[in-house]
Amino acid sequence: MNILITGANRGIGLTFAKHYLTQGADVWACYRNDNQSLVALKTDKLHLVQWDVTEPSPRQGELPKTLDFLINNAGIYGPQKQAGQRLEEISAKAMLEVFEVNCVGPLQVTQALLPALVAAKGSIVNISSKMGSSDDNSSGSCYAYRAAKAALIITSKSLAIDLAAKGVAVITLHPGWVKTDMTNHHGEITTQVSVDGMSEVIRHIKQYPIGAFVAYDGEVIPY
Ligand SMILES: NC(=O)c1ccc[n+]([C@@H]2O[C@H](COP(=O)([O-])OP(=O)(O)OC[C@H]3O[C@@H](n4cnc5c(N)ncnc54)[C@H](OP(=O)(O)O)[C@@H]3O)[C@@H](O)[C@H]2O)c1
Repeated sequence: MNILITGANRGIGLTFAKHYLTQGADVWACYRNDNQSLVALKTDKLHLVQWDVTEPSPRQGELPKTLDFLINNAGIYGPQKQAGQRLEEISAKAMLEVFEVNCVGPLQVTQALLPALVAAKGSIVNISSKMGSSDDNSSGSCYAYRAAKAALIITSKSLAIDLAAKGVAVITLHPGWVKTDMTNHHGEITTQVSVDGMSEVIRHIKQYPIGAFVAYDGEVIPY
């Protein structure tokens, strides 16, 4: 089984990489700059790829010819967490930067890997956030992050519709509120709990409606 994960050098992405290596998969682990945590894993099942998702192709490393799972995990929160994204502070520059990484990034990574995904009748997993759900938005603010993650959910739905006939399944996931650098290690769950849950959802991907948005615990999220 071939799996490619973006943003795999820390946080949820690194835990995904370790999870699938433990299962015996070949893992293409993408990093932007720092690959020390991945190099330390020392296994020949690991293929390192330097890929900033704002660029259309990797800087270094070979891509797989066939791909069973693409996990578009790389993402940023944007300026200064909650405080920098209030109505009074949010800038056009910040809106565009977060959109580029969180929505355009997954789309262009998908485009680059499409022949490999179609060849394997593989699946695409886009990591969004409940903060991108309009239905779930009861507290406002967080303009850049919410807008970019909402855009990813709808982009993912279009991918799901467009690729169904080619045998490629697409799902959007919410990892939960997870203790990582992004949350300053606050949160309700560890990356392990999040990844254990999401990998179960991924295992049953075909049981969910086309383009569904699903939490790590299997709950379908309205958006
Ligand atoms: N943690 C949560 O509670 C939570 C909740 C909902 C959704 N999510 C989503 O889950 C995903 C993983 O988040 P996390 O909590 O693990 O965050 P994290 O610890 O901050 O890790 C983010 C990862 O994305 C990579 N990345 C950022 N910009 C990139 C770019 N332009 N190109 C390539 N890689 C890039 C980072 O690489 P560098 O090391 O190079 O910066 C890092 O590997 C994100 O999409 C996030 O929005 C997280």
